[in-house]
Amino acid sequence: MRRIIYCSQATYDFTGEELISLLEQSRKNNDDAGLSGMLLYSSQSFLQMLEGPEEALTATYERIGRDARHTNLRLLSDVEVARPMFPEWTMGFDHIDDEELAEELEGFTPATTYPLVNPDLITNGVVAETLLSLYAKNKVQ
Ligand SMILES: Cc1cc2nc3c(=O)[nH]c(=O)nc-3n(C[C@H](O)[C@H](O)[C@H](O)COP(=O)(O)O)c2cc1C
Repeated sequence: MRRIIYCSQATYDFTGEELISLLEQSRKNNDDAGLSGMLLYSSQSFLQMLEGPEEALTATYERIGRDARHTNLRLLSDVEVARPMFPEWTMGFDHIDDEELAEELEGFTPATTYPLVNPDLITNGVVAETLLSLYAKNKVQ
Protein backbone atom coordinates (compact mmCIF):
# COMPACT_ATOMS: atom_id res chain seq x y z
CA MET A 1 0.00 0.00 0.00
CA ARG A 2 1.29 3.44 -0.97
CA ARG A 3 0.58 6.95 0.32
CA ILE A 4 1.26 10.20 -1.50
CA ILE A 5 0.85 13.81 -0.46
CA TYR A 6 0.93 16.63 -2.99
CA CYS A 7 -0.01 20.27 -3.07
CA SER A 8 -1.29 22.29 -6.03
CA GLN A 9 -2.67 25.66 -6.99
CA ALA A 10 -6.29 25.97 -8.15
CA THR A 11 -6.51 27.73 -11.51
CA TYR A 12 -9.50 29.73 -10.24
CA ASP A 13 -11.26 30.36 -6.96
CA PHE A 14 -13.60 27.38 -6.44
CA THR A 15 -17.16 28.05 -5.33
CA GLY A 16 -18.72 25.80 -2.69
CA GLU A 17 -20.71 24.07 -5.42
CA GLU A 18 -17.61 23.39 -7.51
CA LEU A 19 -15.84 21.92 -4.48
CA ILE A 20 -18.82 19.67 -3.77
CA SER A 21 -18.94 18.39 -7.33
CA LEU A 22 -15.17 17.74 -7.27
CA LEU A 23 -15.63 15.81 -4.03
CA GLU A 24 -18.56 13.76 -5.32
CA GLN A 25 -16.58 12.81 -8.41
CA SER A 26 -13.49 11.91 -6.34
CA ARG A 27 -15.40 9.92 -3.74
CA LYS A 28 -17.19 7.82 -6.32
CA ASN A 29 -13.96 7.03 -8.22
CA ASN A 30 -11.97 6.39 -5.04
CA ASP A 31 -14.64 4.10 -3.67
CA ASP A 32 -14.50 2.04 -6.87
CA ALA A 33 -10.68 1.98 -6.81
CA GLY A 34 -10.25 1.20 -3.10
CA LEU A 35 -8.53 4.53 -2.39
CA SER A 36 -8.92 6.77 0.66
CA GLY A 37 -7.57 10.16 1.64
CA MET A 38 -8.03 13.74 2.63
CA LEU A 39 -8.27 16.98 0.66
CA LEU A 40 -7.73 20.44 2.10
CA TYR A 41 -8.63 23.64 0.28
CA SER A 42 -7.50 27.05 1.42
CA SER A 43 -7.00 30.34 -0.42
CA GLN A 44 -7.08 28.76 -3.86
CA SER A 45 -4.65 25.98 -3.02
CA PHE A 46 -5.02 22.24 -2.43
CA LEU A 47 -3.21 19.79 -0.19
CA GLN A 48 -4.21 16.19 -0.78
CA MET A 49 -3.26 12.86 0.70
CA LEU A 50 -4.18 9.82 -1.34
CA GLU A 51 -3.53 6.24 -0.26
CA GLY A 52 -4.26 2.73 -1.42
CA PRO A 53 -3.12 0.00 -3.80
CA GLU A 54 -0.14 0.97 -5.96
CA GLU A 55 -1.75 0.58 -9.40
CA ALA A 56 -4.98 2.40 -8.61
CA LEU A 57 -3.07 5.19 -6.88
CA THR A 58 -0.69 5.72 -9.81
CA ALA A 59 -3.52 5.81 -12.34
CA THR A 60 -5.55 8.26 -10.24
CA TYR A 61 -2.62 10.58 -9.57
CA GLU A 62 -1.84 10.69 -13.29
CA ARG A 63 -5.44 11.63 -14.01
CA ILE A 64 -5.41 14.29 -11.29
CA GLY A 65 -2.19 15.70 -12.76
CA ARG A 66 -3.88 16.27 -16.12
CA ASP A 67 -6.82 18.13 -14.55
CA ALA A 68 -6.92 21.76 -15.77
CA ARG A 69 -8.69 22.88 -12.59
CA HIS A 70 -5.31 23.05 -10.87
CA THR A 71 -1.65 23.50 -11.71
CA ASN A 72 1.87 23.45 -10.19
CA LEU A 73 1.47 20.04 -8.59
CA ARG A 74 4.30 19.32 -6.15
CA LEU A 75 4.73 15.81 -4.78
CA LEU A 76 5.71 16.22 -1.12
CA SER A 77 5.73 12.64 0.03
CA ASP A 78 5.56 9.20 -1.59
CA VAL A 79 5.94 6.25 0.79
CA GLU A 80 5.04 2.62 1.34
CA VAL A 81 2.70 2.24 4.31
CA ALA A 82 1.30 -0.74 6.19
CA ARG A 83 -2.16 0.75 6.68
CA PRO A 84 -4.12 3.79 5.55
CA MET A 85 -4.39 6.91 7.71
CA PHE A 86 -7.98 7.55 6.55
CA PRO A 87 -9.36 4.02 6.03
CA GLU A 88 -13.02 4.98 6.07
CA TRP A 89 -12.80 8.17 4.00
CA THR A 90 -13.04 7.91 0.22
CA MET A 91 -12.05 11.59 0.42
CA GLY A 92 -12.30 13.59 3.61
CA PHE A 93 -12.49 17.31 3.02
CA ASP A 94 -12.08 20.62 4.75
CA HIS A 95 -12.15 24.18 3.53
CA ILE A 96 -9.93 26.03 5.96
CA ASP A 97 -9.17 29.70 6.37
CA ASP A 98 -5.96 31.36 7.45
CA GLU A 99 -7.14 31.83 11.03
CA GLU A 100 -7.69 28.11 11.49
CA LEU A 101 -4.35 27.30 9.90
CA ALA A 102 -2.65 29.71 12.27
CA GLU A 103 -4.21 27.88 15.21
CA GLU A 104 -3.17 24.47 13.97
CA LEU A 105 0.30 25.16 12.66
CA GLU A 106 2.83 26.75 14.89
CA GLY A 107 4.67 29.57 13.15
CA PHE A 108 2.13 29.99 10.35
CA THR A 109 2.00 33.51 8.88
CA PRO A 110 -1.36 34.13 7.23
CA ALA A 111 -0.26 36.84 4.78
CA THR A 112 0.34 34.49 1.84
CA THR A 113 -1.78 34.10 -1.26
CA TYR A 114 -1.59 30.30 -1.55
CA PRO A 115 -0.84 28.97 1.94
CA LEU A 116 -0.96 25.25 1.13
CA VAL A 117 1.53 25.54 -1.73
CA ASN A 118 3.72 28.07 0.02
CA PRO A 119 7.18 26.51 0.35
CA ASP A 120 7.75 28.46 3.57
CA LEU A 121 4.78 26.72 5.13
CA ILE A 122 4.74 23.24 3.59
CA THR A 123 8.50 22.87 3.36
CA ASN A 124 8.35 19.11 2.99
CA GLY A 125 6.20 16.03 3.33
CA VAL A 126 6.73 15.86 7.07
CA VAL A 127 5.00 19.19 7.71
CA ALA A 128 2.18 18.24 5.33
CA GLU A 129 1.78 14.86 6.99
CA THR A 130 1.64 16.49 10.42
CA LEU A 131 -1.19 18.76 9.29
CA LEU A 132 -3.10 15.90 7.69
CA SER A 133 -2.59 13.58 10.63
CA LEU A 134 -4.28 16.21 12.82
CA TYR A 135 -7.34 15.69 10.67
CA ALA A 136 -7.06 11.92 10.92
CA LYS A 137 -6.94 12.22 14.70
CA ASN A 138 -9.77 14.69 15.02
CA LYS A 139 -11.91 13.10 12.31
CA VAL A 140 -13.00 16.49 11.00
CA GLN A 141 -15.00 16.14 7.81
C1 LIG B 1 -7.46 18.94 -6.32
C2 LIG B 1 -8.07 17.78 -7.04
C3 LIG B 1 -8.19 16.55 -6.40
C4 LIG B 1 -8.74 15.45 -7.04
N1 LIG B 1 -8.83 14.26 -6.37
C5 LIG B 1 -9.32 13.19 -7.02
C6 LIG B 1 -9.37 11.92 -6.37
O1 LIG B 1 -8.98 11.77 -5.20
N2 LIG B 1 -9.87 10.89 -7.07
C7 LIG B 1 -10.32 10.99 -8.35
O2 LIG B 1 -10.76 10.00 -8.93
N3 LIG B 1 -10.29 12.18 -8.99
C8 LIG B 1 -9.81 13.27 -8.35
N4 LIG B 1 -9.80 14.49 -9.00
C9 LIG B 1 -10.47 14.59 -10.32
C10 LIG B 1 -9.60 14.08 -11.45
O3 LIG B 1 -8.66 15.06 -11.79
C11 LIG B 1 -10.46 13.75 -12.69
O4 LIG B 1 -11.18 14.89 -13.07
C12 LIG B 1 -11.45 12.66 -12.41
O5 LIG B 1 -10.85 11.60 -11.75
C13 LIG B 1 -12.07 12.16 -13.72
O6 LIG B 1 -13.02 11.21 -13.39
P1 LIG B 1 -14.24 10.84 -14.39
O7 LIG B 1 -13.60 10.49 -15.71
O8 LIG B 1 -14.90 9.71 -13.69
O9 LIG B 1 -15.11 12.05 -14.46
C14 LIG B 1 -9.22 15.59 -8.37
C15 LIG B 1 -9.10 16.82 -9.03
C16 LIG B 1 -8.54 17.91 -8.38
C17 LIG B 1 -8.44 19.23 -9.09
